[in-house]
Amino acid sequence: MTNSRSRFPVLASGFVFRFVFRFGSWFAVLLFVAALSHALSAQQPIDGPQYTSGNTLVRPANYREWVFIGSGLGLTYDQSANNTTFTNVFVNPAAYRGFVSTCKWPDKSVFVLEFRASATDAPPNTNGRFQTRLTGIEAEVKDARFADGWAFYNFRLKPDATVMADTAAPLAGQAAASCVECHSKNTAVERTFVQFYPTLLEVARAKGTLKPGF
Ligand code: HEC
Repeated sequence: MTNSRSRFPVLASGFVFRFVFRFGSWFAVLLFVAALSHALSAQQPIDGPQYTSGNTLVRPANYREWVFIGSGLGLTYDQSANNTTFTNVFVNPAAYRGFVSTCKWPDKSVFVLEFRASATDAPPNTNGRFQTRLTGIEAEVKDARFADGWAFYNFRLKPDATVMADTAAPLAGQAAASCVECHSKNTAVERTFVQFYPTLLEVARAKGTLKPGF
C-alpha cells in the first residue's frame, strides 16, 4: 500500500514528463517555425525588381530605405558647365549584400538613380549646396530575363516633372543605346559606376573585380 501510493506520483510524473517531452517538443518546434516565418514575412520589404506586364518595372516605392551607395554633384557628360543637380544612388539590400561578399552584382540587382535640384541660400549656410526637390528617377536592373542581362528605365514624365511615373517600360532603341554605351565603356564593375561609390570601390579593389584601368 505504502509502496503503490508512493509509486503512483512517480509513474504519473514520468508519464507527464514523457508526454510533454514527446509532444511538447514538437509543439515547441512548430511554434518556433510559425513565429519565425511570421517574423520574416512581416519584416521582408519588397526587394528586387517588381514587374507588371512583361518587363515593365514598378518604381520601387521604398528605395529610400535601400542601401545608399554614393552621390554626385553636378556630374556632366558633355562640355556644359554649371550643373547643380545632385544624383543619389541606391541599391536593393539583397544585391548590396551579394556585392559585398562576391564583388559582383547578383541577378535581380536594382539600382535607383535619384536626381535632386540644389540650393545654397539658407542660413546658416554661406557657401555650400544642399539638396532640394526631386527632379528625376532612373533605374537599371540586372536580370537574366533580359537578352544581355541588363535593362535601363526612366520614370521622369516630363523634363521638369516632380511627380514620377509609377511604372516604366524598359528603354529601347536609341533611348537605351546611350545608356548602354556609357554604362559599358566607362564603368568600373560590370555596367555600374563603382568608381564613384567609395565604399564599394574599396571592396571591389580588394577582391580584384575592377575592370582594367581602375
Ligand atoms: C555619358 C555617360 C552616361 C550615360 C549616357 C548614362 N549614364 Fe547612368 N550614370 C553615369 C554616371 C557617371 C553615373 C554615376 C552617378 C553618380 O555617381 O551619382 C551613373 C549612374 C547611373 C545609375 C546608378 C547605378 C550605376 O550604374 O552606377 C543608374 C540607375 C543610371 N545611371 C541609369 C541611366 C540610364 C537609365 C541612362 C539612359 C537613359 C543612363 N544612366 C545614361 C553616366 C551615364
